[in-house]
Amino acid sequence: MCGIVGYNGSRQAADILLDGLKKLEYRGYDSAGIAVFENGHIKVEKAKGRLANLEDRLVVSGTPLGHVGVGHTRWATHGEPSDINSHPHSHGRVTLVHNGIIENYLSLKRSREAMGNKFVSETDTEVIAHLIDYYYNGNPADAIIRAVGRIEGSYALGVLFEDIPDKLFAVRKDSPLIVGVGEGECFIASDVPAILAHTRQYYLIEQQELAVLSPEGVTLYDFGGNDITATKELLTADWDVEAAEKGGFPHFMLKEIHEQPSTLERAMMPHFVDGIENILREEIPDTSGIRRFVIVACGSAMNAGMLGKNAIEKLARIPVDVCIASEFRYANPILREGDVVIIISQSGETADSLAALRLAKAKGIPVYAIVNVVGSSIAREADNTIYIWAGPEIAVATTKAYSSQVAVLFTLALRLAYDRGTVPYERIVKIAEDMKKIPTLVSDLLSEERIAQYQHLASFNTNKHDFFIIGRGQDYAIGCEGSMKIKEVSYMHCEAYAAGELKHGTISLITEGVPCLAIATDRALVEKTVSNIKEVKARGGQVLYLCTEGLAKDHDFYDFLIELPEIDELLMPLLAIVPLQTYAYYTAVYRGCDVDKPRNLAKSVTVE
Ligand code: BG6
Repeated sequence: MCGIVGYNGSRQAADILLDGLKKLEYRGYDSAGIAVFENGHIKVEKAKGRLANLEDRLVVSGTPLGHVGVGHTRWATHGEPSDINSHPHSHGRVTLVHNGIIENYLSLKRSREAMGNKFVSETDTEVIAHLIDYYYNGNPADAIIRAVGRIEGSYALGVLFEDIPDKLFAVRKDSPLIVGVGEGECFIASDVPAILAHTRQYYLIEQQELAVLSPEGVTLYDFGGNDITATKELLTADWDVEAAEKGGFPHFMLKEIHEQPSTLERAMMPHFVDGIENILREEIPDTSGIRRFVIVACGSAMNAGMLGKNAIEKLARIPVDVCIASEFRYANPILREGDVVIIISQSGETADSLAALRLAKAKGIPVYAIVNVVGSSIAREADNTIYIWAGPEIAVATTKAYSSQVAVLFTLALRLAYDRGTVPYERIVKIAEDMKKIPTLVSDLLSEERIAQYQHLASFNTNKHDFFIIGRGQDYAIGCEGSMKIKEVSYMHCEAYAAGELKHGTISLITEGVPCLAIATDRALVEKTVSNIKEVKARGGQVLYLCTEGLAKDHDFYDFLIELPEIDELLMPLLAIVPLQTYAYYTAVYRGCDVDKPRNLAKSVTVE
């Protein structure tokens, strides 16, 4: 996602645009740019990187002076972060900024090229500027309406016309856009934070509606050209700026936990659009020669890799090793023909993971990357990159990126199983069907009732010193991530153990009241896990049982129960992690921790 702002009023537009973009950097920060009418002409300034780079450029080039303009902060989707791919984009008499994804941009681009149009960027957005300019014959509204009528996908647009220096136009479909109304000035923005410093009053514009911002104020039209301003409710934002950036949530971590239904959908569903036989076919054309995977990552990304190992080995029967990047890079790893290294990284910049990638490539080993940040170093240097499309993740402790990494790994495991015929086609279809259910099921696991349950459990153990998580197989891997979350944000000592390991040492730590969360989603192992839980209970431990529904009946060995809806067993980790993330979040809140910026941690460690 990206952030767009626009201004029309008596003040200098550039200052207001830059201030608004600062408030929207949480929506993306790969590049930024502004376009302002200066002396009757549109002046565009844009730069790769954070907003500060643009501000530095403006110091050198001079800030455009004028009262009408648009601004953009980018989260790259089509075309890696660069000056030329930055917004605003121009063609002919049209300059615009865009938030969204144009799904049919390639066919539109080719049709314009066939008419002799030349494109300068790799973005989908530039196509829109070409289209509007093509249809523009002096009627801006008509040009915009006809252009967007050819677009498939999502968009929020702020549009300027070279020969209309006192007006700004805006239209949207599926991407957010509001129209702010101030005293003698008006605004457009992707989100409330961008305008809160200037006004709290705004219109929501719907699809098939066009906003025209002029010195006289805001006029809203339907696509039939009718003035509908009087029919639209002028809303009042009652958020403070900081809360607004978090979408009303108290912390980015909680906001990002709640984004998971949509981020999981974006991670998985596009890969099924062309049928099960074409899963990840574009990213990974051929898997025939693969004999082994070596998954290399850090932190939660490595925990995701553990679940990838479980899924790929169970479904595709391909051996998978999982390595900590900082160990791998100095271990002179044994890599052979047929090996493929998979680097998992949210930021795509983690130094140890990048070093591991370069080591593998130096040994002639192909590298896949599973990355969130488009155009990041790991994404660029890998041979095959699969993006997880989780959008900017601001909280240091990853949640939505982790679950999307797992979702992509499960999708890869499905593709490998299909290619190898190691699983009956019917099971592959069932898993794919169950994947489609996950966004809704995760949303249900974040219902008010469920949240209250997690809050109660967290409040119960807020002052404990130690917290243990046990599980077997995939449940142990889930526990590793749950444990990481609790440690990272609440500073409570928390360890995950393979349940079968308890009797080999850890059980000595279990005394009266020590909380132990047991995870059971693997039916084949549940009785073994229950035996281990009983060992904990027998020593006075407090047992929280997180299991697939139906695996808790007739048992009295737990103090608290969190049941999960049943889907294909392989996918259960994508459900189980949600209570764990949320439990960790509330534990941190109750312990008064700085949830989004835990002490000593960084979002991406780009040094050794
Ligand atoms: C840590 C982050 O610094 O790096 C973790 O706090 C993350 O959340 C780990 O899992 C790896 O980072 P990345 O960007 O390579 O996934």
